[in-house]
Parts: sequence; C-alpha cells; structure tokens
Amino acid sequence: MSLRFAAPAGITVRLGPDDLVDGLRAAVVAGLSSTPKTLPAVYLYDARGSELFDQITRVAEYYPTRAERQILGTYSADIAAASQAEVLAELGSGTCEKSRILIRALIDEASLTTYVPFDVSEGTLRDAAGAIVEEFPDLAVHGIVGDFRVDLDAIPAGRRRMIAFLGCTIGNCTPGERADFLAGVVDVMNPGDSLLLGVDLVKDPDRLVAAYDDASGVTAEFNKNVLVMLNRELGADFAIDRFDHVAHWDPVNEWIEMRLKSRGAQTVRVTALGLSVEFADGEELRTEISAKFRVERVRDELVDAGLEMVGWWTDAAGDCALSLGMRR
Ligand code: AVJ
Repeated sequence: MSLRFAAPAGITVRLGPDDLVDGLRAAVVAGLSSTPKTLPAVYLYDARGSELFDQITRVAEYYPTRAERQILGTYSADIAAASQAEVLAELGSGTCEKSRILIRALIDEASLTTYVPFDVSEGTLRDAAGAIVEEFPDLAVHGIVGDFRVDLDAIPAGRRRMIAFLGCTIGNCTPGERADFLAGVVDVMNPGDSLLLGVDLVKDPDRLVAAYDDASGVTAEFNKNVLVMLNRELGADFAIDRFDHVAHWDPVNEWIEMRLKSRGAQTVRVTALGLSVEFADGEELRTEISAKFRVERVRDELVDAGLEMVGWWTDAAGDCALSLGMRR
C-alpha cells in the first residue's frame, strides 16, 4: 500500500490587513473630495460584497460568468495548446473555481508543473490553495497574497508561464490604468510567457444595463454595501436608504458606470477621517466602471504593451472573450 501526501502550498505574503486599511483611508479621502465623487471598485468586495457578487453571477441578467465558463469549457484545450504553459499564475484567483478547468487542460495538453494563485485575501487564498493541492497532488502550488499592481515579481520563475486575468475584471480599469497594468505584466514576462485576459464585449446597451441593474435588486444591494462597509470600517454615517443604485451606459467610453445617487441634499460624516462630505440632491458617487471591449481594442492594447495576440475565443453568443497575448 502506498499513501501519497501532497506537499502543502507555499505562500508568499506581500500584503497585510494594515496595508488594505491604509489604502482604504487614502482612497476614501481622495475619492470623496474629488468632483465627481468616486470610490475604487476594489472596495465593493468585503466579505458581504464578495457574497453578493457571488449571487450576481447567478442572476439571469448577468451573463459574463456563464459566458466565460462556456469559453473555458469549450476551448481550454486550445488555450493550453497555444500557451504550452508550465506555470499558471492566476490574478484574483478567489476560490480558484475557473482555474480548475485550465489546470486540467494544461496538465493534459501541455506540461503544467506549477500553479500560482494570486489574491489580496490571505484567508481565501490559503483555503483555495489547499483545495487545489488536494485535487492535483502532483502540482506544485505557490500562492501569493499581494496587489498585482506591484507584486507581480513574486511569481516564481519557470518556462512558458501563463498569467491569467479572468472574470472580465480588467474592465474595472480606465484605459490609463489598463496600460499601466499591462506594462507591469509585460515587465515581468519572459519570451514565451503569455497573458490570458478575459473581457466583456460591447453589445446592446439594454442588455448591458440590465446586467448591472437586475430585477431582483442584488446588484443594487452589492453597490450600496460599499456604504455599509464605510460605516463599519471608518465610522461613517451614510443613510443607506437615501442613496439609489444607478447603472449608466457611457457610449463614448464604452463602459458601464455604477453610481450611488443621493436622494436629497445630505451631509455625511466619516469619523475616522475627520471628514464631512456634502451631497447635493441627485449628486452621484461613482463606485465602479466596467469597460466593454471590441477585438480591435484588445489587440491594440496588447500590441502597445508589447504582446502579440495569438488567440481569441468567444462564447457561442459572442458576449465575452478570452484573448491570449504572447511575449516574443
Ligand atoms: C467582477 C469586475 C467583472 O464589472 O461585471 C458585477 C463586477 N459589478 N456587477 C463586472 C460587477 C456589478 C464585475 N467584475
């Protein structure tokens, strides 16, 4: 009888809870004193926000999660063949649900040796990495707790590494932020390394708006939860029911904006920051942008960053796409 014990996952921690709180304070001061008022989308994802996002992925109107799952289900072997990756690093890996399909394909089609989940949440990362180790005992698993705008250099060396950034999350970035992000990725890439990028595609505005303003109100609750978080974390006194959820399609920038619209004029105090914030009647606080893409723009942005687009896969309805950019 032989018993095999998988090696535990190694974890590199580049980011602690204090860094997250410091970042939040700075972002809230900057965002609530600017015109128009904004907050970075990353703060939508506290424990409750992550739970609500998980519910969003199952509402009828929100297609991206199902579309991306369909693309991975249909084309993971082609993606594996095109990348020939030996190392898979997944940015914002979360529960690693999507990674499993890719890992399986990369083991079957290429010669994957190492999986590198990368996330801001240490608890989520440890749980997910542990589960992957159990499921794929021959795979080396090396997790990174970090901010992928600064900590990409922590990705272990290896031949033909594929960096995956799925879930259409790049849509939360402005074009300038995308260029910075792509430059940072390319900076750590060697020839033969690739970037697998998930994007949501431009489509009928009615469908786009519905996806961000679902009939059951889950997205509205997700959006307003950022105020609940500010009340808890920074001693703010937002009256949650005096803000309305807004999903707005911006046809020039080709992005959805999630906003919180003040019902009446009101003053909000943020105790931990010694800040008093005035909202005019109908004033909107922007909590997220979610950019939608066309293949030309994705190709151009990859090329500008120094990557050649070697793959483009969409779901049957053409709602979302995965692109593969290769460093030559
Ligand atoms: C997780 C960033 C891809 O922009 O579609 C869902 C977040 N916001 N509903 C998106 C989100 C409102 C989502 N991403």
